[in-house]
Formats: sequence, structure tokens, C-alpha cells
Amino acid sequence: MTAATTEPSTLAAGRTTRDWQAADAAHFLHPFTDFKSLARKGSRIITRADNIYLWDSDGARILDAMSGLWCVNVGYGQQALVDAATAQLKQLPFYNAFFQTATPPAIELAELLAEVTPPRFKHVFFSGSGSEGNDTVVRMVRRYWDVLGQPGRQVIISRHNAYHGSTMAGASLGGMSAMHAQGGLPIPGITHIEQPFWYGLGRPEGVGTMDAAAEKASRDAFGLQAAGWLEQRILEIGPEKVAAFIGEPIQGAGGVIVPPDTYWPEIQRICNRYGILLVSDEVICGFGRTGRWFGCERMGFEPDLMTFAKGVTSGYIPLGGVMVGDRVADVLIERGGDFNHGYTYSGHPVAAAVAVANIRLIQRERLVERVRDDTGPYLAKLYAELKAHPLVGEAQTCGLMGALQLVKDKASGTLFDPSLEVGMVCRGHCFGNGLIMRAVGDRMIIAPPLVITRAQIDELGALIRRCLDLTTADLASRGWL
Ligand SMILES: Cc1ncc(COP(=O)(O)O)c(C=O)c1O
Repeated sequence: MTAATTEPSTLAAGRTTRDWQAADAAHFLHPFTDFKSLARKGSRIITRADNIYLWDSDGARILDAMSGLWCVNVGYGQQALVDAATAQLKQLPFYNAFFQTATPPAIELAELLAEVTPPRFKHVFFSGSGSEGNDTVVRMVRRYWDVLGQPGRQVIISRHNAYHGSTMAGASLGGMSAMHAQGGLPIPGITHIEQPFWYGLGRPEGVGTMDAAAEKASRDAFGLQAAGWLEQRILEIGPEKVAAFIGEPIQGAGGVIVPPDTYWPEIQRICNRYGILLVSDEVICGFGRTGRWFGCERMGFEPDLMTFAKGVTSGYIPLGGVMVGDRVADVLIERGGDFNHGYTYSGHPVAAAVAVANIRLIQRERLVERVRDDTGPYLAKLYAELKAHPLVGEAQTCGLMGALQLVKDKASGTLFDPSLEVGMVCRGHCFGNGLIMRAVGDRMIIAPPLVITRAQIDELGALIRRCLDLTTADLASRGWL
């Protein structure tokens, strides 16, 4: 890790925060943003980063407990990744993989991905992002069934409150109602079942007074019920029409919803029973986030395809793709002929070189094992303590992902009126206190870089406590508690 020592040249040229905000408001349309309201308020301008910290244009230091956007797994300022990009930019900044050609970094990355994924994954199809990877999934699973002479198998089943990206197919696979409300989504052939969100959908009355054994039994029963919704939907549609089921091992953007232990094994059983392809969207859970290389390994299921992005390069440069298991690869390779799909940046050599350096770093530093054996359990202990806070109804972690469900009444499990946007109140206190913790409704979520130390987790815990206390006082003063 190296400390960034120089400011970007345009900053050195003397633009102030206000200058940046004005130019930003005048020209830059941000993703998932109310343009007008942000232009009025002004963006926070992030100018540099090191390890798990960011600095803004006013010099304030912020603990980035979201790893950028779930992606900076190895933390900021890793010289090995910078060197890999620089060397590759000099050697060969671009060449495509369309014209029966390939570049050494893309080949090396494909080989390395086959090494770190479960043994049935020997092939990869590269994209530029997670959304594109999921577009590839839609094309690929439908092509697979075509080649097998079952073109009627078109339907892909996903879940409400899933996030699979923002392209037409990605947003359609996702189950975000606000996204479906715009742009004529979902596209045909995609259907959604309910999510395995125990606290949201399955918690009994008086949830806060249950003992641990009763809570576990309730969660496990709910997990089987939620998986059963898949079987019901398959039977409604007709198994001969269903191509695949897709899910994030742990829903990330939906609020870090860790499903009950019973959920994924039952989903696996159902997919096996009806011969349906199982797709794991590992865009967030991949590359060590859960304390295993991939979230499916942590959750105990064996997908046929895995989408990845983000952590594959630690976000230093865009890259995504789909790991293709033998079941699908054998059919497409042996019998599929041309697969009429691909992207200019499939296997981009600079992105691939950074990914190789990133994965080697994760291996060298034993970051996956560190999350599994040390920092993951340490974070779990912190969250078990945070669960005692009066504002917290549920505290979940898995590896280095965490969620705190803010509730109006802990004992009964009464939630706040969503229109109060209590999560945003809490997020405001976090931002003001040098912490990036994201709000999804009233669920406060984190996914810090995998290089975070125990001492830094202590620092994170102190910040979270302070922000929860400030939020409590704020809500009380508004008369909302
Ligand atoms: C699970 C999951 N899949 C897909 C995506 C989309 O990835 P991208 O934004 O790189 O297109 C995301 C992004 O957050 C994600 O969390």
C-alpha cells in the first residue's frame, strides 16, 4: 500500500470545491440520481484514497465502509495493480478477441479464474461490467436450451429486490420496482418470486423477545418456505418452459440480506429436480467478500454459471464476465457453433492485467482466509454487540458484509413508516462523521475493503455507535420514536 502523495493536476491548478460542484451540476448526469436536487445540493467531491480511507476536496477523511461500490476488495493505493496497468498500457493497450485473436493477459486471467473458482468452471466469457455479464447470462442460457433442442425453455426466474445491474436485461433480471417503473421493463421471459428476507417477510410478532434457538428455527422454516416459492412458480409456468434461476448468494444492493441456512440448499434441490440451470450472481459476493472465494461456496450451492465483476479488479478498472460451468460449456463448445454475442472490451488486455495482479495479491496476502478466520468473525462479534442498540432490530453479517435493520420498536419488531426515510437520516449522520455506510430503506449496510484490520474494525464500530446514537437523538427530537 502506498499513500497518494500528489493531488490530481486540475486540483493543483486551483479549482475549489464550489468550482467542481458547479461544473458537475452543469454537465454530469449521475447514475440513480435526481439530477435537479443534486445540482442544488452539490456533490461531495472525492479526490484521493488510500487503504480504507477516502479524502474529499475539503480535505476531510472518510472511512469507506462500502469499498467504493462493493468493489475495492484489496483497498486503495495498491501499487501492484497500478504497475500492472502501466506496463500493459505500454506493451499493448488494446486488442480485441473477436478476430480469432487473443492477448496474453486475457488468457492468463482466464486460466487464473479457472484456478480460483470451483473445479467445474474451466471457461469464462468476458464482459465490461456486471450488467453486461448478466446480459450474457440471458443470451447464454437461452442458447444452451436451443442447442439442446428445447427452445421452449426461455423463462428466467429471479427475485423481487434482487439487483443484477442496469442494462435492459440486467434491470429486468433485477427485482427493483423503481427500475421496472421506467423504460418498459422487465423484458419478456423474466419473472420474479419473493426474496428470502426473514426480518422483512417472516419475522413473528415479538421478534425482539425470542431466544436464539427459537429465532433460528423460525429463520430455517422461513428459508424452506421462500425456496418453495421457486418450486411453485416453476409448476405454474411449466418446468419445460423454465431456463434458469438466478440469485445473488446474499442480496447486496437489496440491503445485505443474508438468507436462512436452509434456503440455498433447497433452491439447489429444486433446480436439480426440474433440470433448471442455476446462476449465481457473484458480482458482490465474489473474490473473498464472504470469506470464501465465491458466495455460493459459503452458502453451499453449486451453480452452473457465475456472473462476476467489481472485486475481480478491485474496481481499479472495469471488467466483468461469466464463469461457464462444464454442463453449459460442453454443450456450447461441442454443439453450439457460433455464439453471436460479445463486447468490444471482452477480455480487454489492460483490465485483464489488473485483474491478474489483483487476484495474485488476494492470494499472496491470503485475504480470503483472513476474512474467513479473522476479520469476518471479528466483525460478526461487533455486530452481535450492535444488535443491543435500541434502534437495531436485526444485525447480520457474512464475511465482510453487514446490515443493521433500524426499527421503531425493537421488542415487537415494528418498522418505521418508510416515508420518514429514517435510513437517510442515519446516512446523513454517517456522512457528517467521516463514515460511508449506505442506507437501503432503513437497513444500514457495509462492505469494507478486505484489507481492513481488527483495529480499523474497532474504529468502524465506534463510528457506527456514534452515528446510531446521533440518529436516535435526532429521531427523538423529531418525535418519530
Ligand atoms: C449483484 C450485482 N450484479 C450486477 C451488478 C451490476 O454490475 P455493474 O454495475 O458493474 O454493471 C451489481 C452492481 O452493483 C450487483 O451488485
